[in-house]
Amino acid sequence: MKGIILAGGAGSRLYPLTLVASKQLQPVYDKPMVYYPLTTLVEGGIKELCLISTPHDLPRFKQLLGDGSRFGLTIDYREQEKPAGIAQAFLIAESFIGNDNVTLILGDNIFYGGDAFGRAFSEFKGGATIFGYHVNDPERYGVVEFDASGQAISIEEKPKHPKSNYAVPGLYIYDNEVLNIVRNQKPSARGELEITDVNVTYLKRGKLRVSRLPRGFAWLDAGTSSSLHEASAYVQTIEKRAGVKIGCPEEAAFRAGTLSLPQLNELTGKMPNCEYRDYLASVVAEANRLKNEK
Ligand code: G1P
Repeated sequence: MKGIILAGGAGSRLYPLTLVASKQLQPVYDKPMVYYPLTTLVEGGIKELCLISTPHDLPRFKQLLGDGSRFGLTIDYREQEKPAGIAQAFLIAESFIGNDNVTLILGDNIFYGGDAFGRAFSEFKGGATIFGYHVNDPERYGVVEFDASGQAISIEEKPKHPKSNYAVPGLYIYDNEVLNIVRNQKPSARGELEITDVNVTYLKRGKLRVSRLPRGFAWLDAGTSSSLHEASAYVQTIEKRAGVKIGCPEEAAFRAGTLSLPQLNELTGKMPNCEYRDYLASVVAEANRLKNEK
């Protein structure tokens, strides 16, 4: 399974924050926003990633994430010259995807809790898998409608009159057929290749699985100034209470087995003196203690 992080867009709703750094580089409490979707993919065991952003912002992402080896990954970079829709990501990353299945995550989607995605990746057998999450304001999202037996029967993009409260979060899993689907897809009225149209195509073919995320799961939006602030407050609350970090890709890579304990230790030692380093040092110390107890 290959992974794509789409971190494009103008971020106009966060102006003037986004005059110098794109939305996905803004801090969500103690780390850049893109660390959260990156961690989601690393936790799910994905090791080959492609990050797509604008020509203007791409150098900053390269500076932040490098070639990915720090997280036990490879990261390729591709430019989205103009915002022509989420589904365009597959065409941009075509050579990266090759003949594989692919997961796309939006760079401003923050998920926390459980291993629903990791399970979905390992159980994926073809077609498409997307998710449904109960929200208060479904009209802002892709909305999925279910019949009485729990089968998805319609998906609409930002409908004025939503048929349910289930929004489709920005994490999508597809087989390689997605490339053919997007190649033959027409842009919508707003001139974009819509991800919802891709999902509708899979639905019509009877190849779409919609998995409802449980109540204990958090999906946060960070696209406006107030939701960005709320996401930061949420992360701070959980981190302070539990003493664990959300969205820490180095830790996730270690727990997923893609970074060894000596590698994590070495990496931590190179970091400047800061809370982030202290946290990773505590992860290393705990792992050493458990190893010695064996
Ligand atoms: C996009 C998709 C929408 C999805 C949402 C998730 O909307 O078009 O279907 O529910 O991401 O974040 P956007 O955030 O680009 O308005």
